[in-house]
Amino acid sequence: MASQAVVVVTGASSGIGSATAVALGQAGYRVALGARRLDRLEKLSDTIAASGGLSFAHRLDVTDPASIDEFLAAVRTHWGPVDVLINNAGQNLSSLVAESTDEKLRSDLEINLLGAMMVTRRVLPDMLERRRGDVVFVGSDSATRPRTWQSAYSAAKAGLEVFAKVLEMETEGTGVRSIVVRVGPTGTEFGNQMPKARMSEILESWKYWGVLRHLHWMPAESVARTIVDTVSVPLEVAYPTIVEVQPGGRKRESDH
Ligand SMILES: NC(=O)c1ccc[n+]([C@@H]2O[C@H](COP(=O)([O-])OP(=O)(O)OC[C@H]3O[C@@H](n4cnc5c(N)ncnc54)[C@H](OP(=O)(O)O)[C@@H]3O)[C@@H](O)[C@H]2O)c1
Repeated sequence: MASQAVVVVTGASSGIGSATAVALGQAGYRVALGARRLDRLEKLSDTIAASGGLSFAHRLDVTDPASIDEFLAAVRTHWGPVDVLINNAGQNLSSLVAESTDEKLRSDLEINLLGAMMVTRRVLPDMLERRRGDVVFVGSDSATRPRTWQSAYSAAKAGLEVFAKVLEMETEGTGVRSIVVRVGPTGTEFGNQMPKARMSEILESWKYWGVLRHLHWMPAESVARTIVDTVSVPLEVAYPTIVEVQPGGRKRESDH
């Protein structure tokens, strides 16, 4: 998508969302920032402006249809229809199934899966009418390599990939792309949601099940760059349906 395009980033108040918003601003996109913590979005907007970028901050709770409607109406009034949607808002309330609650399970599914679906279905009619648009789903490698303690999160991210695939099929030939950026371990505030007192138990379990090969993390900027590079490829050139990004510069553990 060309620069000056209007892009929405959900969950822009920290981590991958913030870094992606900054990178998009630097690339010349007009960036609409959405998340629940408006104070953080406003600070980010100042940062983007300082580097010559254009952004617009508005509160967004992806689990609340009224909040999504209000957010998208504000973006439309400010800049017009959305060209690129980055469904990035996410949460991971790590817990064993036996120790979880209905509220935790529901919340992980609502934020990671239903939220992205509800935002996507609202921006789609404009994209189809204008015969252009990218919908990006920030996924997780836990969709294909699910982890213990992250049942609802892994299920939500697997569901997100299925939803993205169906969207790809339904929009084929319309000018709209449905893109999954499947993300590996990244150093953000995401890890703060894990129960610290249970970390050694969790890591042991992941090793046992073969889903913890190393302890390398990439910076959020690495994912941001991958997302910007991906949406910058013109549709006529390529359609990246799924891009997996893992930490770069890794060495084999035996080389350390
Ligand atoms: N970090 C990793 O290792 C990793 C790996 C694979 C995939 N991912 C994915 O990357 C995405 C971003 O995560 P991150 O690592 O950058 O974590 P993060 O720093 O915790 O950021 C999560 C973002 O989601 C927002 N959010 C949460 N609930 C929301 C809601 N109901 N409505 C709107 N926004 C909401 C948060 O903003 P507010 O709290 O202000 O609303 C925050 O901006 C997630 O989809 C995550 O699943 C991360």
